[in-house]
Amino acid sequence: MSDQLKRQAAEAALEEVTPGMRLGIGTGSTAEQFVRALAEKVQGGLSVIGVPTSERTAALCRELGVPLATLEECPELDLTVDGADELDPKLRLIKGGGGALLREKIVATASRRMIVIADASKKVARLGAFALPVEVVPFGLRVTRNAVARALSNLGYDAPILLRGGDTPFVTDGGHHILDIDLREITDPEALSRSLLDIPGVVDHGLFLGIADAAYLAGADGVERLLPVADQQN
Ligand code: A5P
Repeated sequence: MSDQLKRQAAEAALEEVTPGMRLGIGTGSTAEQFVRALAEKVQGGLSVIGVPTSERTAALCRELGVPLATLEECPELDLTVDGADELDPKLRLIKGGGGALLREKIVATASRRMIVIADASKKVARLGAFALPVEVVPFGLRVTRNAVARALSNLGYDAPILLRGGDTPFVTDGGHHILDIDLREITDPEALSRSLLDIPGVVDHGLFLGIADAAYLAGADGVERLLPVADQQN
């Protein structure tokens, strides 16, 4: 997606930001456009406070003059705006392509509302073509990986599990590693979520279920606003 389309999705979400809001601020290239658009409003006098979902987003906010607080200082947020790697008609998401899924989920669930900004190509009928990131603690990595493989097999998946970064594992802001699981098609995201969270070494995963309230998707024909299908009137 071009930066211009990302910017359009970001600007649509920015319309929902009102003075005094406590904002969760996402991570990734689309969220970066949101930060840039937000910073312009802040320079123009908009008063908001942001809680960033990664060190990367925090650094950009500081550089552009967006006021920040920690989640400890500001544990209840009005709105989180973040990107996604995939979203389905119920606005269930796969996130974590940028490795910030844990903080993203903590911040999103501390918010009264969460809005996704993305390009239209991220909308899918079924989640899973994007490899699902699973955040795991480094201790006992091999044991955890085997347990993940067993859980997947019990659910009927035959899916490759890759340690992100390979021989030089990627390290998240929380000091964890990420397993990327190529599931191709996730038949029951809720069941998969429960199975993964049952494994002691799994910290969290990139399925965001029942968290997003709306999405702004930018495409060639403009920006479309989506609600979870169950919420739609008709
Ligand atoms: C970061 O960890 C992710 O959850 C991002 O929100 C996601 O990868 C979308 O990123 P882009 O906006 O760069 O596509």
